[in-house]
Amino acid sequence: MLVARNLYKAYGPLQAVGGVSLDAGVGQVIGLLGPNGAGKTTTIGMLAGLVTPDQGEVRIAGKPFGGDTSETKCLLGLVPQELALFDELPAGANLDLFGALYGLNGKRLAMERERVFALVGLADRAKDKVDTFSGGMKRRLNLAAALMHDPQVLLLDEPTVGVAPQSRNAIFDNLEALKAAGKTLLYTTHYMEEAARLCDRIAIMDHGKVIAEDTVSGLLRLAPVESFVVIDLAGAFGRMAELQELDGVMEVSVSGAALRVGVRGMEMVGPLLTWLAANGAVVEHVRTERPTLETVFLHLTGRTLRDA
Ligand SMILES: Nc1ncnc2c1ncn2[C@@H]1O[C@H](COP(=O)(O)OP(=O)(O)OP(=O)(O)O)[C@@H](O)[C@H]1O
Ligand SMILES: [Mg+2]
Repeated sequence: MLVARNLYKAYGPLQAVGGVSLDAGVGQVIGLLGPNGAGKTTTIGMLAGLVTPDQGEVRIAGKPFGGDTSETKCLLGLVPQELALFDELPAGANLDLFGALYGLNGKRLAMERERVFALVGLADRAKDKVDTFSGGMKRRLNLAAALMHDPQVLLLDEPTVGVAPQSRNAIFDNLEALKAAGKTLLYTTHYMEEAARLCDRIAIMDHGKVIAEDTVSGLLRLAPVESFVVIDLAGAFGRMAELQELDGVMEVSVSGAALRVGVRGMEMVGPLLTWLAANGAVVEHVRTERPTLETVFLHLTGRTLRDA
């Protein structure tokens, strides 16, 4: 449904996007996960026809995408990272404006407006000016605006930034409904939990390139540890260097009175606890944590998603 081949975009000496290819089928949600400045918005811009690629090609429903005048434009909806709403206008007038941009009028326009208002749960606020809305409500209206012409492909650029958990869940329910209705979604975020929950496949971006692309479970297999063992200790433990050298122990960190030990395989957990007990550690509590996409990102880049 949405295919990008080898997209490049430079701003002066800066290669914002350096050879990105993506493929999203009908009813699929593809995630673009990466830290600030990774090139996500620039990629979305090229997919939406707003940024002209230096190289590469975008196809939508098998047709080359020619920008503004192209009929393929109607297949595409964009939820931009920066809110694109008129604060001084009522919510309903905002939606009418976006509908009109896609050639809707009369009964069809009114019908679509009611449909998307119901979808994002803002029908009772239709007459209120956008500047009276909370941040989360503005985000939901921003999504509604992109859905007025019922696009087959939806590009979402950080649609939940700055949104409180309740509104965030509401947006997620909307996106899950769109996916169930067979829409194709490209979802950009630097929240790995969101990407893991919603996306069929995730492309991890860094410095303008896709450094890994797979299903969530496929990406997690790239993590060098199978589990983190978090051990609360009563009292100090002085044999960190030896712990680090144990076979199967990949990494050790300390936070407060807890050790966090990344182990290569679950079979290491028993021997690890035995070794700790034999070496003077008084263990109060033990739990294990699975690696996350953050673990994978850290492994691939040496940095965390948050402060990369
Ligand atoms: N119009 C522009 N002119 C110059 N540089 C730009 C322009 N747009 C983006 N860049 C640069 O390109 C790089 C990628 O930016 P982009 O906005 O695509 O990243 P992003 O992954 O969306 O980041 P964020 O998570 O902060 O939204 C950044 O270094 C940015 O400064
Ligand atoms: Mg961005």
